[in-house]
Amino acid sequence: MKGIEIRRLMQNEEVPYELLLLADPSIDIVKDYVSRGEIVVANYIGELIGVYVLIKTRPLTMELVNIAVNEKYQGKGIGKKLIFDAIKRAKEENIKVLQVGTGNSSLSQLALYQKCGFNICGVDRDFFIKHYKEEIIENGIRCKDMIRLEMDL
Ligand code: COA
Repeated sequence: MKGIEIRRLMQNEEVPYELLLLADPSIDIVKDYVSRGEIVVANYIGELIGVYVLIKTRPLTMELVNIAVNEKYQGKGIGKKLIFDAIKRAKEENIKVLQVGTGNSSLSQLALYQKCGFNICGVDRDFFIKHYKEEIIENGIRCKDMIRLEMDL
């Protein structure tokens, strides 16, 4: 898709919570990392159609804590574009390891992250049971564990 501009969210712009909640159903958790993170958006003819949030978790390490694309525009390569932008941005900040986590039931997200170069490095067992009030089901699978992935930059 042509005409997509990927850039930092400006201070006077509203945080695109609707998009962020597509990737993470907990508004409290979203608000927490939004307050600490770098928010980057994909702008398409005046509309914010994608977003990601990067936070510094440890020295030389960043985590992609949220990535979402408006449902109308999914499957057109925008998610990949956002991930490659996050990698570029992290490299520019001299970050050496980029991490991401997703649910055991998030099959297309697991495909996407591995296609972009992330490797599975661990499992946070029962993460979603411990930290989320509502039960999450995707692809007919209960979302229980967080699959951790990372990439050396
Ligand atoms: N098996 C293999 N590959 C798969 C797949 C599957 N089941 N499902 C998706 N993919 C691949 C696609 O084939 C594509 O790769 P390709 O270009 O090599 O074919 C890639 O994953 C998807 O790329 P893209 O079109 O860039 O993704 P997107 O713009 O739809 O964005 C999300 C991806 C996840 C950000 C978007 O779907 C979204 O917002 N989902 C809801 C929020 C969410 O779940 N966020 C992540 C939380 S961990």
